[in-house]
Amino acid sequence: MSAVLQSAIYGTGAYVPKKVLPNEYFAKTLDTSDEWITTRTGIRRRHIAADDQATSDLCLHAAKAALDDSKVPAGELDLILVGTITPDYEFPSTACLLQDKLGLSHTHIGAFDLSAACSGFGYGLATAQAYIGSGMAKRVLVVGAEILSRLLDWSDRTTCILFGDGAGAAVVGPARNDGASHTILSTRMHADGSRAMLLSVPAGGSARPTSAATVAEKMHYLRMGGREVFRFGVTAVIDMLSDVMERHKLSVEDIGAIIPHQANIRIIESAIERLKIPMDLFVMNLHEYGNTSAASIPMALDEASRAGRLTKGKYVILVAFGAGLTWSSTVLQW
Ligand code: ACO
Repeated sequence: MSAVLQSAIYGTGAYVPKKVLPNEYFAKTLDTSDEWITTRTGIRRRHIAADDQATSDLCLHAAKAALDDSKVPAGELDLILVGTITPDYEFPSTACLLQDKLGLSHTHIGAFDLSAACSGFGYGLATAQAYIGSGMAKRVLVVGAEILSRLLDWSDRTTCILFGDGAGAAVVGPARNDGASHTILSTRMHADGSRAMLLSVPAGGSARPTSAATVAEKMHYLRMGGREVFRFGVTAVIDMLSDVMERHKLSVEDIGAIIPHQANIRIIESAIERLKIPMDLFVMNLHEYGNTSAASIPMALDEASRAGRLTKGKYVILVAFGAGLTWSSTVLQW
């Protein structure tokens, strides 16, 4: 068997829409308060896409920033992956629309979407690693992007307060010893389809096509068993971090940062109670953006990188969990 090439992140980028919705907005129309939302979730604000923006538009901004950061000309890309559960259309894929917006449609490079909800970016990195490792691709653009605000029932206080819109991206290529790339040491993807309907949009697909009845019953909006998903999130974070520390023989001192999916600060607090990892190793920005699903980890990674928070040579661990159910871990050496 030929040797598998190691891959690395060459650069990152992110984009959030300008419009900001603070918690106080919800208190005007719903039986909720800034105090409830802040103490039960850690979220204070979220950014909401403009009416004329679709997910591929958010992707484009994040992708351009990642290409700039990586110093890879767009024309060198040979694969585009977009993790999203809020594509522009049922089909064609958002990745194809992004390919065109990047001016790359004439290149005919492959482009496809990955549906793994909040684990979409982790699934994307694992897929990029497999393509690069096998020699099937050399420069892969991986994007996580969502406009979840379009899937929300704005009268349901148990869900609409949680989510926001945004996009994050990374350019991935073969590992190199130039000091400017960040090696992907391992990726893991997991799923448990028996719990698929814990978090779903029940109508609009082939199982239950959109009809006047499904719209009347609000089945085209996101639904979530919040408490069960919360418990799943805590277990997933504990299991993945324990697994990563053991597999890579890491001690807390080796870790530069842990970037978890930004869903609820209490999920992270519950996990670290068991793991005895200091809170200040966790990169958290959900107070500003809420839960942006597939965009949450690449947005936080980009923010931490640009803020100089990621120390060269240290390990950076990404842990995601979400609908599917899916979960994924990535270990990087920065
Ligand atoms: N304001 C005020 N009260 C509220 C609100 C609100 N916004 N939302 C719920 N409540 C009420 C409930 O109705 C309930 O009232 P009751 O006791 O009278 O029935 C009470 O608060 C407690 O409800 P819980 O559901 O137990 O509240 P909890 O502390 O679990 O918080 C939350 C709910 C925030 C949804 C939490 O369960 C959570 O974060 N779950 C995980 C979400 C997540 O991680 N999703 C990730 C995947 S997302 C993806 O894949 C797209």
